[in-house]
Amino acid sequence: MLNKSSTGAFCGQGWPRVFAHRCGGALAPENTLAGLRVAAQRGCRAVEFDVMLSADGTPWLIHDETLARTTDGVGHVCETHDAVLARLDAGCRHHPAFLGEPLPTLAAAAQCCRQLGLAVNLEIKPASGFEALTGAVVARQVLELWQGSALPLVSSFSEIALQSARSVAPALPVGCLWERPPPDWLRRSKVLNALTLHCDAVAITDALLAEARAGGIPVLCYTVNDPVQAQALFMRGVAAVFSDRIDLVDGRDV
Ligand code: G3P
Ligand code: MG
Repeated sequence: MLNKSSTGAFCGQGWPRVFAHRCGGALAPENTLAGLRVAAQRGCRAVEFDVMLSADGTPWLIHDETLARTTDGVGHVCETHDAVLARLDAGCRHHPAFLGEPLPTLAAAAQCCRQLGLAVNLEIKPASGFEALTGAVVARQVLELWQGSALPLVSSFSEIALQSARSVAPALPVGCLWERPPPDWLRRSKVLNALTLHCDAVAITDALLAEARAGGIPVLCYTVNDPVQAQALFMRGVAAVFSDRIDLVDGRDV
């Protein structure tokens, strides 16, 4: 069962309303330490980032299965060795100001988040075919890297990855993530002993929010870049949003 210490950063009055999406949203290259620093500088208390395994089975922060969109590399993350990933530039595609920004490992990101006091929603983003392995490896690392502090909330579109994470780390706070929650989302969340429901903001309905409220499950939604939309979602009962525009969206008025 989850307990207060394992879910501390995400329960009760300490609940963060806004998660900087992919580390620093649009203000920095996605899934980088620079993004984490920007989020902290902007007053964010929480960040979301994506984690995938390399060919060596090391967790790295990256969204796509391939390197080309966000780095100066090519090929698949799951076929690329750590020594190659460590030399990539994950800032050059965003803005010249971020040239040379490295692709971070989960270990580097954990250290940075702990130093900056950032709560984390870690999204397990397994390459196709590596769901169970990614869930297990990431869960083990999370327990080690966040030892002695509030654990990240771990989510994934892959229920296989979450089940695998849960099996190696039963106390891990877990959130179910769907673009559109299926009709039996609550039953499936309970199977995983999930703490939260994460979904696309366009899938939010009053019926879904009522069902989540009755089940005692906070709802988090992505990607909300309009402050008016964010406030409306908070007023309807959404617990938190993921945003690329942390310069515009904040939870202070709620
Ligand atoms: O976890 C919320 C959100 O990050 C899911 O979408 O594609 O940005 O990882 P994506
Ligand atoms: Mg994500």
